[in-house]
Amino acid sequence: MIWYPYTQMKTMDEPIKIIGAEGIYLHTETQKLIDTTSSWWSVIHGYNNPELNAVLKEQVDVFSHVMLGGLTHDPVEKLSDKLKDMLPGDLNYCFYSDSGSVAVEVSLKMAIQYFFNQNKPLKKGIIALEHAYHGDTFKTMAVGDDEDYHLAFPEKEGVYHIKPDDAALESILIHHHETIAALIVEPLLQGAGGMKIYDVSFLEKAKQLCERYDVLLIFDEVATGFGRTGHRFVSDLVCPDIIVLGKALTAGYIGHAATVASEKIYQGFYSDNPDHALMHGPTFMGNPLACTVALKSFEIFEREDYLSKIKHIEAKLKENFKSFESNKVREVRILGGCLCIEVNDPKGLKGFKQYALKHGIHSRPFINYIYGMFPYIISDDALNKVCKVYKKWFEEIK
Ligand SMILES: Cc1ncc(COP(=O)(O)O)c(C=O)c1O
Repeated sequence: MIWYPYTQMKTMDEPIKIIGAEGIYLHTETQKLIDTTSSWWSVIHGYNNPELNAVLKEQVDVFSHVMLGGLTHDPVEKLSDKLKDMLPGDLNYCFYSDSGSVAVEVSLKMAIQYFFNQNKPLKKGIIALEHAYHGDTFKTMAVGDDEDYHLAFPEKEGVYHIKPDDAALESILIHHHETIAALIVEPLLQGAGGMKIYDVSFLEKAKQLCERYDVLLIFDEVATGFGRTGHRFVSDLVCPDIIVLGKALTAGYIGHAATVASEKIYQGFYSDNPDHALMHGPTFMGNPLACTVALKSFEIFEREDYLSKIKHIEAKLKENFKSFESNKVREVRILGGCLCIEVNDPKGLKGFKQYALKHGIHSRPFINYIYGMFPYIISDDALNKVCKVYKKWFEEIK
């Protein structure tokens, strides 16, 4: 018996059985559905990409896994070199994990221990944003701020939540910087907390303030990385001390994530004292299949100029929703390859999923949001069709 995610098992709808997947489509026994979720925003090249399939098959025949404890291999070395080249500033030191949540945990451990290693054990508090979502493990729930996800786990000790507002940040830093290790944000676009978008100026100011008050800046780019906001990484605009990557890192093929630290952070652990080491080591970190598929995915991303594709998706979405109005809708938000329609009342989304299915679209609305996090290979026709169906829903509901 399967226990499904984020679901009341007693009342859940029958899950849709997928028997195949190709490009932007999920195949059921009877339908080809346009997938608007990119499987939780990870499948950026679409499903069943022949190039990704080929490199995986090749690597399986070499070896599919060895631990990274005391061993190393070409795929992980190449991926680390590539990330060092791709990422801005001196974000050079890659620590791998098997999921975004764990990679965020690692970033928080890095930040807290960075100060512990300097004999500043009181600096272990974390500032995060209201509506933040950073994962489902304990510390990521604590820095998260969404009771729709984590109602039964309200512990927030040592965590401050603020709006993305310079004055609010400065006020906390002035009073508490001696007990604060880091500010963690989903930069520009807050995903699971409601696809909320804020301005880059907050990040610019946050970086200055963090430097002034000796607090580390962590960008959780698990969702925003690899083009989702229209930028390759938001870190290309403002460079943090630590970046966390996941989801699209491996193009939705294999769960993997990376926590990449700057020189300053790495040097905070690099010493003759064994107690200064980072004590973490997921069994599947640096998995060769994951590294191999990530490398090929980056190659396609660069070769096919995905940033132009994403700009085009953004323009098409804006065109589609230019004159859209509905008294059921609070706001339509569009950024890069992301569309969010926020409704006034979640009851207004009852039946939407079935409606979309009837029109050949797989959509997964949550709380009061309908969203589209499209594979970047989506055609104009498919995108226009999705927008048309989404808009029509609001015309047809009473
Ligand atoms: C910003 C952000 N951080 C972390 C995570 C957790 O990643 P994972 O589901 O791979 O644990 C997510 C997942 O949605 C996310 O959106």
